[in-house]
Amino acid sequence: MLKGKTVVLGVTGSIAAYKIANLASMLVKQHADVNVIMTHNAANFINPITFETLTGNKCLVDTFDRNFQFNVEHVALAKRADIFMVAPASANVIGKMANGIADDMLTTTILAAKCPKLVSPAMNTNMYENQIVQDNLKKLENYGFEIIDPASGYLACGDTGAGKMPEPETLFAYIMRTIACKKDMQGKHVLVTAGATMEKIDPVRFITNHSTGKMGKALAENCMLRGAKVTLVNASVSVEPPMFVDVVKVSSAAEMSEAVKSKADEQDIIIMTAAVADFRPSHPADEKIKKKDQGTDSIIELERTEDILAYLGAHKKEGQKICGFSMETENMLDNSKAKLAKKNADMIVANNLKVAGAGFGTDTNVVTLITKNGCRQLEKMDKSEVAEKIMDELI
Ligand code: CTP
Repeated sequence: MLKGKTVVLGVTGSIAAYKIANLASMLVKQHADVNVIMTHNAANFINPITFETLTGNKCLVDTFDRNFQFNVEHVALAKRADIFMVAPASANVIGKMANGIADDMLTTTILAAKCPKLVSPAMNTNMYENQIVQDNLKKLENYGFEIIDPASGYLACGDTGAGKMPEPETLFAYIMRTIACKKDMQGKHVLVTAGATMEKIDPVRFITNHSTGKMGKALAENCMLRGAKVTLVNASVSVEPPMFVDVVKVSSAAEMSEAVKSKADEQDIIIMTAAVADFRPSHPADEKIKKKDQGTDSIIELERTEDILAYLGAHKKEGQKICGFSMETENMLDNSKAKLAKKNADMIVANNLKVAGAGFGTDTNVVTLITKNGCRQLEKMDKSEVAEKIMDELI
């Protein structure tokens, strides 16, 4: 996703510096051109050769290194950069950046960079909370830098508190959000439902299905990367939600319905990927227990759950797009086209559960996009790519 993008990582003297090797590796796997600039102090914590091996680029440490064309290099790199992240950022370097001091390769290059600049402070809690550091961070924010809040926890110095650099996965997510996609959904509100609803039979048993929430997660993530404000209504899922989306946890179809309806009016797009159980026990769980005590519980009476997608279709607001999913084992196209009309949806994403690489739990999917304009079958691809195609079509 980062092909053709230049990422500059500025690494300063903190024990967390070693974690940036992981970050560099994650970025390289996304095909980014990764360039690392270290302060002299950082080189005490991790060897520049580690970064050179991982990125295939020379790791820059000192402006006046005689082995390289540095005088122009710092300007060239600053011009090429699509993003500049300083992580871990020490109090010293934060102070220098906030006050325009450029006395080494890192601070000189960032002063020349016009791309988005992100700073991840990492230091002892007392230093982090010091008003001087806080003022410098405010200053950087005013200059357009994005400051990534440090995590709290046990610090290398033995103290516990704020000042820990977030894990590389978190820093990676910040970079992806900033540069991975064109922001063609900026200002749009999107709600996605995901996972399997659960209907309690009694305190032990419940009715559910195999949905893992992967497709919903991929859609939420794609919309977030494209700049949308995303709400993910998660029923039972087996995947972590993406960062930078609002997550609402629900369990039953009734809870999902309430959560979706309460936010429906403000949405530009609503996508129901959740596998909503069609039926639920008609007696509440405590009633069931009473019956058990009376020895009359052998039959579970069921009633239909509310069809949330149909409700949304019937109450669609001007310009809103509604998309549903359809899991079929036979007559996929006919059944799905019928759902498009019956539920007044703008798109039904149909998949045939009998096809290998499609449906529940897999990382890939094989789907057909059905709109009133016709059907478009997509080949087997990763759920993240399927998500991109669905959103391309919807917007
Ligand atoms: N759906 C819903 N509320 C329900 C059942 C389904 O909102 N009570 C949504 C699903 O999230 C999905 C779409 O409707 O986006 C189609 O779901 P599916 O189970 O395939 O279809 P049903 O309408 O339940 O019809 P059937 O089970 O007969 O195929």
